[in-house]
Amino acid sequence: MPKSLNDTTTLHNGVKMPWFGLGVFKVKEGTEVINSVKAAIKNGYKSIDTAAVYQNEEGVGKAIKESGVPREELFITSKVWNSDQGYDSTLQAFETSLKKLGLDYLDLYLIHWPGKNKFKETWKALEKLYKEGRVRAIGVSNFKIHHLEELLKDCEIKPMVNQVEYHPHLTQKDLLAFCQKEGIQLEAWSPLKQGQLLNDPVINEIAAKYGKSAAQVILRWDLQTEVVTIPKSTKEQRIIENANIFDFELTTEDMQKIDALNKDERVGSDPDTMMVGFNE
Ligand SMILES: NC(=O)c1ccc[n+]([C@@H]2O[C@H](COP(=O)([O-])OP(=O)(O)OC[C@H]3O[C@@H](n4cnc5c(N)ncnc54)[C@H](OP(=O)(O)O)[C@@H]3O)[C@@H](O)[C@H]2O)c1
Repeated sequence: MPKSLNDTTTLHNGVKMPWFGLGVFKVKEGTEVINSVKAAIKNGYKSIDTAAVYQNEEGVGKAIKESGVPREELFITSKVWNSDQGYDSTLQAFETSLKKLGLDYLDLYLIHWPGKNKFKETWKALEKLYKEGRVRAIGVSNFKIHHLEELLKDCEIKPMVNQVEYHPHLTQKDLLAFCQKEGIQLEAWSPLKQGQLLNDPVINEIAAKYGKSAAQVILRWDLQTEVVTIPKSTKEQRIIENANIFDFELTTEDMQKIDALNKDERVGSDPDTMMVGFNE
């Protein structure tokens, strides 16, 4: 079980990925994203999750530079957007992301959404980038079991990570088991259901018992289910609070109570119907 913000899971290619990081979805380019990322790094975060479509890669890059922490101590993720899927366009999109971030390599590059019929071509581009050492690990996002099965049929390199919506209302047990069987690390997006889970009475009852906040209990549940997590906050106090989850352990009974909150309910899009950007 991870004991600190520096603890990592080892991906199937041997690369170490922090269990915990900061997400920057909907965080404004410029001062807002620069301040969030700097606050996170100052408070010990090593992993930052952005994407081309978030339109804040320049700010993320600026914050990394200004943080003073050596690049190799950080773990930076970005994602290829739907409209850039395809072999050549993905290679180009990668260069654009890297340039905006001001980096010469990424730690993890993900296919943002599967879409219908381009992800295998896109994956070939990711394999090329990986083989060339431009990115230390490659993965997918929002892939259901059937998408993974399809990709695994033809890929040369298995994805190292699958980043999906994952929280107590969407526990995705089958997907988690599938990924574990295949050696693919599951990573949770919207771990707090974008804030919608924070008033849940069961979670708050458990939180009171441990003297922790609802957010801390949910994020601890992520770690205890062996899922990497990347909550977003623009507020330093919450950035600190969210990471303060390494000093307690939920009992099996409390883990089961949280598991039982599952409703298979999403706050984001369903990967089977999310086609924004694909027909452009
Ligand atoms: N791959 C994908 O398709 C995908 C999709 C969505 C998200 N993501 C990634 O996952 C990351 C996290 O998901 P998310 O940003 O959608 O949602 P989230 O992390 O579940 O929730 C963020 C919301 O919760 C609030 N919050 C955070 N910590 C809190 C605390 N301790 N107490 C009270 N409120 C708190 C934040 O507000 P404040 O900022 O005001 O604190 C924000 O409104 C994203 O930033 C992004 O990097 C990936």
